[in-house]
Amino acid sequence: MSVWAILVAAGRGERLGLDQPKAFAKLGEDPLLAEPLRRLDESDWIDRIVIVAPPGWEEPAILLAEELACSKVHSCVPGGETRAGSVRAGLAEVPADALVVLVHDAARPLVTEAVIERVLAPLGEGWDGAVPGLAVSDTLKRVAGDGRVVETVPRDGVYAVQTPQAFPADVLRRAAAGDAEASDCAGLVEAAGGRVTVVEGDPQLLKVTTADDLAKIASWL
Ligand code: CTP
Ligand code: MG
Repeated sequence: MSVWAILVAAGRGERLGLDQPKAFAKLGEDPLLAEPLRRLDESDWIDRIVIVAPPGWEEPAILLAEELACSKVHSCVPGGETRAGSVRAGLAEVPADALVVLVHDAARPLVTEAVIERVLAPLGEGWDGAVPGLAVSDTLKRVAGDGRVVETVPRDGVYAVQTPQAFPADVLRRAAAGDAEASDCAGLVEAAGGRVTVVEGDPQLLKVTTADDLAKIASWL
C-alpha cells in the first residue's frame, strides 16, 4: 500500500506572534518544521511526503528538506487561507493511485512511529479514518460572553484529538472537495458521513500554539 503524508505547515502562527510563520520559529537550532519533517521522512510507514508551506516560504522549506537529506519529499506547495484549504492544496499533489493519506500538523513536532502505526491500523478494518486522541480529564464548562458559566459539559467519551490523522485517499479527497471547512480532517470526513475512530494519542504530540508550548517541547527533546 502506498502511504502519502501531507505535512500542513502553512498557518500564520498568529497566537505565537513572531515575525515569521510558526513553521519557521526556532525549536532549538532548527526551524520547527525540521523536526516533524525528519520524523515523517524516517518513518517506515510513509512512502512520500507533500509539504504545504506558508505562501512565499516554499523555497526555504525545500532547502530545509535538502539540508536534512530527506529522501521522500515529493513536492512543496503553498497553503490556503484555512487549514482545509491547505489540505486541499496538498491533496492536489497526491497521485490517483495513492491508497492512504496521513495528514499531520507541522505544529506538532514530536510525531512518533508508534502513533503513525496506531492511526494506520484501523484503515485495514474498514474505517474511513483514524485519529489519535486523549481522554479529557478536566471538568468542562460552557461559558457565556460575560464570563458566566452556562453549564457543565459531561466529559464522558470526550477526547482531545491530535494529528497524524489517516484516511483512505479517496475518502479524504471526496470529503475535502469543494469548499468544505473543518478544524481538522476528521471533521471533513465526519461531515461527509464517514466513520472515524479514535486511537490512543500521545501527550507529547502537543501542538505549538504559544511560546510556552515551544519551550515545553524544546525541554522534552
Ligand atoms: N495550517 C495550514 N494552513 C492554514 C492554517 C493552518 O497549513 N491556513 C496548519 C498550521 O501550519 C499548523 C496546523 O495547520 O501546522 C494547525 O494550525 P494552528 O495550530 O492553528 O496553526 P496556525 O494557524 O499557524 O496558528 P494560529 O491559529 O495561532 O494563527
Ligand atoms: Mg490556526
